[in-house]
Amino acid sequence: MQTAPRFALAETMSQLGTESAFVMLAKARALEALGRSIIHLEVGEPDFDTPDHVKEAGIAAIRNNRTHYTPSTGIAELRDAIAAHVTRTRGVPVTRDQVVVGPGGKPIIAMTLLAMLNRGDEVVIPDPAYPAYRSIVTYVGAVPVSVPLQESRGFRFDPADLERAVTSKTKMLVVNSPHNPTGGILTPADIAAIADIARRHNILVMTDEIYNRHSYDAEFASYYGLSGLPDQTILIDGFSKAWAMTGWRLGFGVYPKYIADAVGALMLNTVSCTTTFVQDAGIAALSGDDRPVQKMRDEFLRRRALLVEGLRKIPGVTCEMPGGAFYVFPNFSKIDTDDVKLANHILEEGNVAVLGGSTFGPNGKGFIRMSYANSEENLREALARITRVVAAYKR
Ligand SMILES: Cc1ncc(COP(=O)(O)O)c(C=O)c1O
Repeated sequence: MQTAPRFALAETMSQLGTESAFVMLAKARALEALGRSIIHLEVGEPDFDTPDHVKEAGIAAIRNNRTHYTPSTGIAELRDAIAAHVTRTRGVPVTRDQVVVGPGGKPIIAMTLLAMLNRGDEVVIPDPAYPAYRSIVTYVGAVPVSVPLQESRGFRFDPADLERAVTSKTKMLVVNSPHNPTGGILTPADIAAIADIARRHNILVMTDEIYNRHSYDAEFASYYGLSGLPDQTILIDGFSKAWAMTGWRLGFGVYPKYIADAVGALMLNTVSCTTTFVQDAGIAALSGDDRPVQKMRDEFLRRRALLVEGLRKIPGVTCEMPGGAFYVFPNFSKIDTDDVKLANHILEEGNVAVLGGSTFGPNGKGFIRMSYANSEENLREALARITRVVAAYKR
């Protein structure tokens, strides 16, 4: 029998990373298929339903046959609504031609990096960080340069570390606040220090503010709004987290116009456009009743307290109170520094899906990321299970 031919994949594929949340979700689902009851604290998505007025707008749009192609950068009405929203929430005047709409924040991040980076360019990235940044940076042959986020600083940049990471090859710096995976948030003083470095070294900053509606103890401080450098800043944002719209796939970037044009050209050549009726739903999200978003935030706030309090009671575990997003990043290094092994053990023995901190970067070693996008009842049960598993754990 003849064997099927096998072709070499593009060499660049070996540079592409993955995202542990999706890998762990698949593992957990496989256990569920065997009849196990798993509590999901691995995925970064609100467990709430998309607000009714947003769903109704999407359904009405389908009924009205809003099912054809749109301009590659998004429909004018949504780009206007985004420009007005960013102008209002960040205090920086933004116009439609600076806005590119895409099928989620993640593709917007990827297209932005593809539009800006050459081989050998250095990109300063926090460690730990959302994995998509590093993955696409290495994919294009650019060089990720890590700056550690220390638990002792509430997982905020140390400006001195940042300054040391900058070289003549530094093209871009990635900022993400509120931060995935640690929940850390930048203060206005941090933003001023980062902006000062960006200005002095002429570095483009990509600020990922997708968790901007999830800031708990202080008013959200936007790098885009406070840096005073809109001409050398790219804003990434989207609808997944604030409006519980992860599966709709809707995000956007705000750029200096010439970069928006380049990202638009990439959109045109890849996705053509973002789903039309989803864009209509996005307008409803931005212009409609904001109370559902605030309700979700208030619920997250209660859960954060519950989870942090419970984790702090586990002998050997320390846990910073995260200022934002919907993640906690407890330190389990006294239990085991091999966080991936520990996460697998917690899944297999405790039926709770969590993520090893080192899957977000080497500096996450010994930490575990847990999402509190789950009910209080499930969080209590997860804490009981983790406490039990950890007490019996042997390295
Ligand atoms: C920091 C950060 N940025 C961007 C995204 C992208 O989200 P989406 O593609 O659903 O808009 C995520 C999702 O987990 C995230 O955590």
